[in-house]
Amino acid sequence: MVPLHILAISGSVRAASSNHSLLKAIVHLLPPTATLSYSIGVDQLPPFNPDHDQQDSPAPEAVATFRRQIADAAAVLICTPEYAFGIPGTLKNALDWTVSSGSLNDKPVAAITASPLYTGGDKAMASLLPTLKALGTLMPEPSTLCIPSVNKLLSPDGALTDPAMTAQLQQLIDHLVARAIMP
Ligand SMILES: Cc1cc2nc3c(=O)[nH]c(=O)nc-3n(C[C@H](O)[C@H](O)[C@H](O)COP(=O)(O)O)c2cc1C
Repeated sequence: MVPLHILAISGSVRAASSNHSLLKAIVHLLPPTATLSYSIGVDQLPPFNPDHDQQDSPAPEAVATFRRQIADAAAVLICTPEYAFGIPGTLKNALDWTVSSGSLNDKPVAAITASPLYTGGDKAMASLLPTLKALGTLMPEPSTLCIPSVNKLLSPDGALTDPAMTAQLQQLIDHLVARAIMP
């Protein structure tokens, strides 16, 4: 049986990112029938410009790669920090490149915001969801999770330490996998 493939898109571009660590820990919550890989870094995509997404001026190679990675995935998992009460500009930029391609249209998507603050990046989530809706993603609940105090959630070796949060993550992943099988 071909494993079901999930594409993870991280909104962080930091080397020591807590969102990256979280995505690594989430891999252990996947069923054996599913795999997860990471998209190219959102900072590798050039600034969105519809003029460079035309027949006579096709999208840059990094954009084509990003779109292909989404197309090849049965589902997409976005995990992002919050900056200045919104999602990082680099993540919004990456999502803007998928408008004309329709890459995320009808795609099962789950979104996580993770923050060292008690708010869990709730304002980033609030700004992300209208964009994902505009892109035509399928996100019936439970498809979203705001994770507070992310810096206290992982052990030094990267394991999830909070049973309640682990259970919520497990529910999110199980639901995403189920939707990818039967969208
Ligand atoms: C300039 C700046 C602005 C930030 N703004 C917010 C914010 O509005 N809300 C929030 O929850 N965290 C905010 N943070 C904290 C980041 O979310 C935190 O550094 C987080 O660990 C970054 O994610 P990462 O570890 O995955 O790279 C901000 C950090 C910086 C440096």
